[in-house]
Amino acid sequence: MFKKLTLACFSVAVFSWPVLAQDKTFSLQTPDVLTDSGFIKHLLPRFSLKTGIRIKPITGAGDAAFGDKGVPVFTQGDTVWHFDANKGPMTDVFEAWLLSDIGKRTIEAFKPDGTPMFSADVSIQETTEVAAITGDAVMGEAVGLKKCGRCHVVNDTNRMKAIGSTPSFALLRGFDDWQNRFEAFYVLKPHPAFTQVKDVTDPFASHLPSPIAPIEVTLEEIEAITAYVATIAPADLGAPIQSQ
Ligand code: HEC
Repeated sequence: MFKKLTLACFSVAVFSWPVLAQDKTFSLQTPDVLTDSGFIKHLLPRFSLKTGIRIKPITGAGDAAFGDKGVPVFTQGDTVWHFDANKGPMTDVFEAWLLSDIGKRTIEAFKPDGTPMFSADVSIQETTEVAAITGDAVMGEAVGLKKCGRCHVVNDTNRMKAIGSTPSFALLRGFDDWQNRFEAFYVLKPHPAFTQVKDVTDPFASHLPSPIAPIEVTLEEIEAITAYVATIAPADLGAPIQSQ
């Protein structure tokens, strides 16, 4: 259903946006007990493979940390490990991944002695710590609901108003290259027929007017939608897709 993208032809325009100028790397303070057990070596490469984001483990303070502050992400016996980060697109993606089904399975797949060393069930502790969405992601949610929500399930609030056969944002978020897809959605079918991006797309040809009420977005809004989608936990592509 989803075609692999060939980004080459529009990569120049797309990749000059500020959000993409960012390095897809961040540093993570990892306490020795986690590193020495081999857990960090197990966890980080699997995340990078999924997302293309590289995490540099360090012993001092970094962009993010595993410790006793922040969002609970896994437990080890009575110890609850938390993830703490300055909000940013890259660390947000990691946080969402840790809390997603795929992330949880990866955490629990670490079995140096044949039994899982960590449990990813932090449901009780998690309830009080809902990750705040800040900055552009807030605008992205609003714009996404307004401009994409008549077809896509953006989140639970428009679940009943979208078109069931259109992939939900959570489903799309599960693709390794989700970010490319969102940043370039306006060149991907079916959008070119009804989408205008300010200062980017040409007006619809007069003999091919938009067949439906067109959507008009700015690059800033696309960036904001992408920042919002980064905060969505990916739907597990292995599980049956919920009827929408
Ligand atoms: C009129 C309906 C409609 C609207 C409005 C719409 N989309 Fe879509 N979109 C679709 C359909 C249908 C597909 C699935 C295409 C397919 O299966 O190949 C899709 C697919 C996508 C994909 C995946 C494309 C791919 O090929 O991987 C992305 C990303 C996406 N939409 C983003 C958006 C964003 C962002 C907005 C709002 C700014 C939006 N869409 C508005 C109908 C819509």
